[in-house]
Amino acid sequence: MSRLRRARPPLVQGQPTRGKTAPNRLRRVDQFLVAYDRFLLQRNDGPFADAWFVDLGYGAEPVTTLEAAARLRRLNPGLGVLGVEIDPERVAVARPWEDARTRFCLGGFNLPVGADPALPARSARLVRVFNVLRQYEESAVAEAYAHLGEGVVPGGLLIEGTSDPFGRLWSANLLRRLPVAPPAWPWRREALVLSLRPGCGTLPEDLQSVLPKNLIHRMVPGEPIHALFTDWTQAAREASAWRAFGVRQWFAASLRRLAERGYRLDLRAKWLRQGFLIWKDPPIAL
Ligand SMILES: C[S@@+](CC[C@H](N)C(=O)[O-])C[C@H]1O[C@@H](n2cnc3c(N)ncnc32)[C@H](O)[C@@H]1O
Repeated sequence: MSRLRRARPPLVQGQPTRGKTAPNRLRRVDQFLVAYDRFLLQRNDGPFADAWFVDLGYGAEPVTTLEAAARLRRLNPGLGVLGVEIDPERVAVARPWEDARTRFCLGGFNLPVGADPALPARSARLVRVFNVLRQYEESAVAEAYAHLGEGVVPGGLLIEGTSDPFGRLWSANLLRRLPVAPPAWPWRREALVLSLRPGCGTLPEDLQSVLPKNLIHRMVPGEPIHALFTDWTQAAREASAWRAFGVRQWFAASLRRLAERGYRLDLRAKWLRQGFLIWKDPPIAL
């Protein structure tokens, strides 16, 4: 019997929120995930054999879930994709789109797989939570993450973030499920990702409006996220000569300068070219 079935919780964790979504809003998130951890999406060994990709809080229509299913199955044709919603009407809207590998169910942060007798009781390999927690209080974030960790296989990933309406700008926390999870906190914080499609917005101010919930109210002196943006703004200014070569070059130059100030950034060309700032092990409290 799976962990999820054993740990069946009595109540769905979370609260109803607005359901706005849009086609392709999370395309860049999916592209990022494929580039970031392709193996996690592809592998089918051991506990990963039937582990879901979960889209938690897919909104009024399941469009982002179905798009993710199509994208990610190019890597893993048998990948199970599960859309989870706290709003029963949104589950009903999505159900006609179900097939053998794509399912939709009612649930909350305590992934509900084991609680639904119609659903195979499997864990998740990757949980994508976008534009959900932004509508909660900041104090709800840590508890939500703790619940989510109960349904993820060791080595699995949580990406939780916020985007603009079109998905051009977004940011996300990346957390890796620990191999042996202490009961209260099952995650290792792996990175903070800031995503800015080259050519859209300015550097770096626009991203402040799409910070994850645990950071958006922390743009004040003394907070690491405030220091990052202050230093990045300065680095972008210093690198402004690169603008002559285009926004991508300027973005890359600004991140190289930022790294020189001691930030642990992933400076590989594949991220810089695509407009991703990946801050590894950021010293950010939840
Ligand atoms: C703004 S929509 C986001 C839709 C989509 N993820 C996107 O980014 O376009 C947020 C959705 O999250 C759902 N939601 C809120 N809290 C939830 C929870 N704890 N578990 C599952 N769904 C939740 C709401 O019902 C709503 O439909």
